[in-house]
Amino acid sequence: MERDGRQWVVAGAGKVIRSVIRGSGSALPRRVVSNAELAAEVDTSDEWIVERTGIRQRYIAGEGETTATLATDAARKALAAAGVDAAEIDLIILATATPDNTFPATSTKVQHALGCHGGIAFDVQAVCSGFLYALTTADSLLRTGSAKKALVIGAETFSRILDWEDRTTCVLFGDGAGAIVLEAVDGEADDDHAAGLIASRLHADGRQHDLLYVDGGPSTTQTVGHLRMRGREVFRHAVVNLAEVLNEVLEDAGVSAEEIDWVVPHQANARILDATARKLGLPIEKVVVTVDQHANTSAASVPLAFDTAIQDGRIKAGDLVMFEAMGGGFTWGACLARM
Ligand code: ACO
Repeated sequence: MERDGRQWVVAGAGKVIRSVIRGSGSALPRRVVSNAELAAEVDTSDEWIVERTGIRQRYIAGEGETTATLATDAARKALAAAGVDAAEIDLIILATATPDNTFPATSTKVQHALGCHGGIAFDVQAVCSGFLYALTTADSLLRTGSAKKALVIGAETFSRILDWEDRTTCVLFGDGAGAIVLEAVDGEADDDHAAGLIASRLHADGRQHDLLYVDGGPSTTQTVGHLRMRGREVFRHAVVNLAEVLNEVLEDAGVSAEEIDWVVPHQANARILDATARKLGLPIEKVVVTVDQHANTSAASVPLAFDTAIQDGRIKAGDLVMFEAMGGGFTWGACLARM
């Protein structure tokens, strides 16, 4: 499919609308579970988990903590960081594969909790790449004038769809949420250093359904089901697909890999992060890594990692940041933004 590079929409002579990231926030459950704690319940070890995945601990939602409560906490922090009142938000997109209910969308619960009624609110389901799908969709709605200020959230409680008897999957995932505030801003078309989303690409390949899926659902088993994964095959596809989509976005943006200040990837496995950075020729020091602390939080992992690097001062105004993710479906995508 041919595309004409950068995705800014002309808003008048020499003008464009850009989606600018105004602030971020994140939330984690109260309970942290170390590998050693997990090894007391599951036939595994800290050594195996660290060596194969880089994960050292994960957060697990407890009573009263759900995808909606975590998403709402993260959203409130993002609004505070952006200096934006909840009443100004006219679009909420929440990426999740673990909604509070089959319907309505968890984003509507978040909207209600924030007290900002009447705008657009819906969920996006692209599993681990959900945040990339949500971000790209929000960007499109902002650039076409359908909304002005958006909350884009990734939130998950994967602990509730894990088979705790299956050591090949249950050690890999955790719960959490991350959010950003995105605002439509008018700017000059020829300003190459202006803040805003620059280019993004999304993909899906439904042929790979059986490599990573949940074995239940309302229309099939009438149960929630458990996560099933053929990890080795997923690993192989992830490295190839991510390198490809990253190169597509760089080409669309007319930017070289060396110009990227930070990569904020989906946090599935430290070895996937290493392999992808190597394929792009990027030093691992430019990759934000939080998988050791959070494990794989699916759609929450990219905004959680982003907020971590904003909070600790690594990502600064003017930086060129690449977001990327791949997940069940398969789905995958990448997005380049100037801070
Ligand atoms: N503890 C101890 N031993 C284990 C565990 C465990 N938790 N899990 C599996 N093993 C054993 C296996 O039984 C196997 O033993 P055997 O050789 O006696 O049969 C051995 O370890 C090796 O198992 P593999 O599955 O071949 O291990 P591998 O090196 O492939 O690592 C892993 C598994 C970590 C899942 C890896 O394949 C991976 O990271 N894949 C990527 C998948 C992923 O991250 N998915 C997340 C969702 S998708 C996404 O976000 C991109």
